[in-house]
Amino acid sequence: MPKKYNSKGFIRWIGGKRLLRKTIAPLIPDNIQSYIEPFGGAAWVMFYKEKWADLEVYNDLDGRLVNLFRIVKYHPQAFKDELKYLLGSREIFFQFMNGTFITDIQKAAQFYFIVTRSFAGKCEAIGLTKKYQGGICRSQKNSVEKIDDIHSRLDKVVIENLDFEELIKYYDFENAFFYCDPPYSQGYKYGIQKQKFEHERLFNVLKNIKGRFLLSYNDSPEIRELYKDFNIIEIERLNSMNNKTLGGHIKEIYKELLIANYPIELCQKNQ
Ligand SMILES: C[S@@+](CC[C@H](N)C(=O)[O-])C[C@H]1O[C@@H](n2cnc3c(N)ncnc32)[C@H](O)[C@@H]1O
Repeated sequence: MPKKYNSKGFIRWIGGKRLLRKTIAPLIPDNIQSYIEPFGGAAWVMFYKEKWADLEVYNDLDGRLVNLFRIVKYHPQAFKDELKYLLGSREIFFQFMNGTFITDIQKAAQFYFIVTRSFAGKCEAIGLTKKYQGGICRSQKNSVEKIDDIHSRLDKVVIENLDFEELIKYYDFENAFFYCDPPYSQGYKYGIQKQKFEHERLFNVLKNIKGRFLLSYNDSPEIRELYKDFNIIEIERLNSMNNKTLGGHIKEIYKELLIANYPIELCQKNQ
């Protein structure tokens, strides 16, 4: 019997669509020839399905992510060997944070170690509670075992390391589909961002494309105004991060927008 596709991603990433992937996936049209994620991150939506289109492209400006994806795609065994003997210790976590690697395989292993063991995948502080934050007590065996599934899924995926504008213009054509999940207009600033993310520049690229796009955003007046001529639906998501200021583990509800240049309201109704 063929092995059932395992739709789980392999890393936590800030802004990752792990909790929303089941809501987003049915809104993606069937008749597409290419599926492109200009803001790939941990690629939770891409990994949700075994194959979205004949051409699939993962892109992110963060070279650490791109190197990890490329190493898992091209050197899974060497990557797993590198990981196998790492101890889940605080000392190693901080040693890797200061990064002394020789090869891209070591670089990928150290990044994977840090991202899977840091609080909310932020690569800043060590996570202590496995259930919610990755955490120092995470099983090394499970982390290594996931790699084979991800390696198979990435087999035909093109991996790019470009700024979104160059990527979208390069891959745009009539039957292209872009799932765009940029940094939010109010929110986390990613390590690679030297300046504030240019939301208008993204809008100016997307408004003229020949293909279709689906865009995720935080619900804000600026974003609603910018995309007022497009199709917009509202969704809610739970933020289950540990919120110390609110006294421990509290689930907060956030409003998000899904914006498209095709009628997503219809896809939503047909669900
Ligand atoms: C919200 S996250 C994407 C999360 C992803 N959808 C997931 O499920 O994990 C946004 C990503 O955009 C990337 N990014 C930021 N500026 C960028 C740019 N100018 N071009 C391409 N990627 C960029 C960040 O490195 C980050 O990984």
